[in-house]
Amino acid sequence: MAGVKAVVLVVLLATAIGAFANDPDMLQDVCVANTASGILVNGFPCKNISMVTADDFFFAGISQPVQITSKILGSKVTAANVMDIPGLNTLGVSMARVDFAPYGLNPPHIHPRATEIIYVLQGELFVGFITTANKLISKVVKAGEVFVFPRGLAHFQKNTSKYPTAVLAAFNSQLPGTQQFAAALFTSNPPVSNDILAQAFNIDEHKVEMIRAGLTA
Ligand code: GLV
Ligand code: MN
Repeated sequence: MAGVKAVVLVVLLATAIGAFANDPDMLQDVCVANTASGILVNGFPCKNISMVTADDFFFAGISQPVQITSKILGSKVTAANVMDIPGLNTLGVSMARVDFAPYGLNPPHIHPRATEIIYVLQGELFVGFITTANKLISKVVKAGEVFVFPRGLAHFQKNTSKYPTAVLAAFNSQLPGTQQFAAALFTSNPPVSNDILAQAFNIDEHKVEMIRAGLTA
């Protein structure tokens, strides 16, 4: 009986740890990423503290609107994560800025390692996420308002206006990771074969080729 209780306790503990899984907690004040060390660990090894400067914690890359290069999507994500701010290593947070052209779309994607919260800088967006039960939770959000996308759930943001729009996004991970569905399925390397995509989407292989061509144009 005691053995059964112990097993149940271990399972409960493991479930609880899984439910609260997040970037691992820090074990020191700072651990500025040394991305050049060549050592492979979960995150990055620390730079020598004597070499740490304020610039390791500084980034100006999301202060201004950026040029939107994708004409089809009409949006551009500028990341501000540990790859841009080495001081974020082990701190479990990061940011991004998304600029939208009129009617631009940040297409459906997930962040495997983070919940995201956005703050609308200007304009108005239709935003939403989809639960694992395929329920769409969506809303129009305006300048000064915030919206949350839970970790790992498909989400998107669409500028529904004829004016440029931008949001600031915050994540509870130093490197949230992003996987866009269309790009992952239709432009992977090596490619997912036509027959798999045709069957998955219930379309013929010619249409699969058309989608691939459209995404890589
Ligand atoms: C917005 O959804 C972003 O991931 O930056
Ligand atoms: Mn996102």
